[in-house]
Amino acid sequence: MEILLKKGVLGEEKADAVVMGHFAGGKANSPLIEREIKDHAFTGKLGSTVSIRAEAAMKARRVILVGLGQPKAFTEESAREAAACAVNAARNVGAKRVAVEVMAHANVSAKTVAKAMVEGMRLAAYEYRSYKTDKADGRGVKVVTILALNARDLKSATDGAALGELYAAATMKARDLVNTPSAHMAPKDLLVAAQEAVRGHKGVRIRSYDKAALERLGAGGILGIAQGSDHEPVMVHMRYRPANARKSIALVGKAVTFDSGGLSLKPANSMETMKLDMAGAAAVIGAFSAIARLHPRVEVHGIFGACENMPSGKAIRPGDVVRTLSGKTIEIRNTDAEGRVTLADTLAYAAKLKPDLIVDVATLTGACVIALGEEITGLMSNDHAAALKVGAAAVAAGESVWELPLEKRYRPLIESDIADFKNDAPRWGGALTAGLLLQEFVNGIPWVHLDIAGPAFAERPLNAYTKKGATGHGTRTLLELIRMA
Ligand code: BES
Ligand code: MN
Ligand code: ZN
Repeated sequence: MEILLKKGVLGEEKADAVVMGHFAGGKANSPLIEREIKDHAFTGKLGSTVSIRAEAAMKARRVILVGLGQPKAFTEESAREAAACAVNAARNVGAKRVAVEVMAHANVSAKTVAKAMVEGMRLAAYEYRSYKTDKADGRGVKVVTILALNARDLKSATDGAALGELYAAATMKARDLVNTPSAHMAPKDLLVAAQEAVRGHKGVRIRSYDKAALERLGAGGILGIAQGSDHEPVMVHMRYRPANARKSIALVGKAVTFDSGGLSLKPANSMETMKLDMAGAAAVIGAFSAIARLHPRVEVHGIFGACENMPSGKAIRPGDVVRTLSGKTIEIRNTDAEGRVTLADTLAYAAKLKPDLIVDVATLTGACVIALGEEITGLMSNDHAAALKVGAAAVAAGESVWELPLEKRYRPLIESDIADFKNDAPRWGGALTAGLLLQEFVNGIPWVHLDIAGPAFAERPLNAYTKKGATGHGTRTLLELIRMA
């Protein structure tokens, strides 16, 4: 799908379909459209669409009305959703060439609207077809022309669209990595994916630690979890360093390429989607694929400890103790609570870099999905200002997060009889005790933990631009955070 921008108006565009945004309670710009709106009982509800015949005076054959919702409630996310609905509707009527105006509104700048529209359209058109014999189904829209009314809007919209292209590509990169079956996404493959994502990007370096290097570092958490797998673990450190860095952020992703549960084996149905367990790292790699082109004035680290959690004669056992990179020990009680053990190492590694902020993204607990459902990320933090910042970034990105408390009174639940900590805790409040364990490894640095166990993978279509499968959730929040820094 090609997305072009130019100055122009819908009435004069030659296209199979032109998309007309319509606010709830808004006026139609012709009697014909007014009549169609009445006939179809079209209310302008956000994301609703009606496809009608164009008027004789127009150069297009068809008009797709897309609801923009209440004008007062219009946000960047409305533009994302509405543009995605328009592309889906165009596809359904077989339109190949589509034109749409920048959904101008006083609440949101033309730049931001164009960015969101491009994200919505690209993500709506996303399909994972690597394992389909037919690589394309040929039903999609071929060209979208975004129209701006005047030269000034065109300039802002062009800037915004370029950002939207970056954000969408980063999100789709993350989706591709998560959708790839674990057989083709072993730890080494994740390293290669990271290398490819940043190849040739100015200011980005990448360093990796193989098994022997992890032993030298004392990364007993990653090594312990990886022990049962035929694939060796690898820790990856990407680094973007601009000349004029004002501060630094470390992004840490959970990178379990398959989570069978280990000897504490998962039941079959819980295992079906466990290729998703590297979605945190995928979000970090996705974000890194775009960072150099955003040229932010902040140093960014991207870190993940890739490994596979498998049962075998060599696997780590319940009752074993690992010594993590920080020197602190963890008793493994349940080998299925592996994410926090690997993150203990990567968070400690990140803390040693002394960044101003650490953000981790992890498909960490089923308990978080119980708490917040499939569409909302659990946010936990040791720093109120940092939590607010990440929360604001998530809102701009159109990704839902909700803060959960790291209650001190639950801290005793992660204490072990024989080691410094243990990796399991009672069932209740399982997202919080996992967060509390992570907190022990950030060395007091401002830190935000995002548990994306629910939103990382959609078991059903979630919205117009998030179909079934990997969502790339977290990627755009990280990019917004970097851009705001
Ligand atoms: N990767 C899972 C968490 C998960 C569950 C992600 C569902 C996505 C969807 C994690 O490693 C895990 O198994 N957590 C256990 C922890 C428990 C054993 C303390 C869980 O949530 O059941
Ligand atoms: Mn697990
Ligand atoms: Zn896991």
